[in-house]
Amino acid sequence: MKKKKQSPSGKVLRITQFGNPILRKKQKKIPAAMLRTRTFTALVRKMFSTMHAANGVGLAAPQVGRDMSFAVIEARKTKLRPDAAPLAKTVIVNPRIISHSRKMEYDWEGCLSLESVRGLVPRYKEITVECEDASGKKILRKLKGYHARVFQHEIDHLNGILYVDRMDDMRTLVTQKELEKRV
Ligand code: NI
Repeated sequence: MKKKKQSPSGKVLRITQFGNPILRKKQKKIPAAMLRTRTFTALVRKMFSTMHAANGVGLAAPQVGRDMSFAVIEARKTKLRPDAAPLAKTVIVNPRIISHSRKMEYDWEGCLSLESVRGLVPRYKEITVECEDASGKKILRKLKGYHARVFQHEIDHLNGILYVDRMDDMRTLVTQKELEKRV
């Protein structure tokens, strides 16, 4: 039996892998009354722990088996992204992209639900997202570059879309090990 990794801030949740139907569903909007409940706050905390333990920069509710429209995000510099600007702990609830640049750019993406592989994915360079925070406050965020990419990836999860659906050349799909050889 494999021992599950534990993080200091609590239990780690099981991450659903591609093929699981929940990853292909449009997620349910979260009613305001559910936010700020103890159950919701605890789930958010566990999702951050799970994401940290798995070395991810984002984790959407369907990836831990919850049919709910929210995701957690936090990014630091990584081996593959030594120049990435850090992105502070963020919870996005019922998010939607309300506008985006016409320009797109390609970069590598991975996903905790598609273990050990990476692919080149085109994303909008700039986006404006409308969402709520964990307390239900409406927020409007303008994002660009890597941050815009992470948000687009997570918002896609809430609409049943995986990054491989956005790739236009499946030949760029590589294992993480192979990609690390290139940097
Ligand atoms: Ni993902």
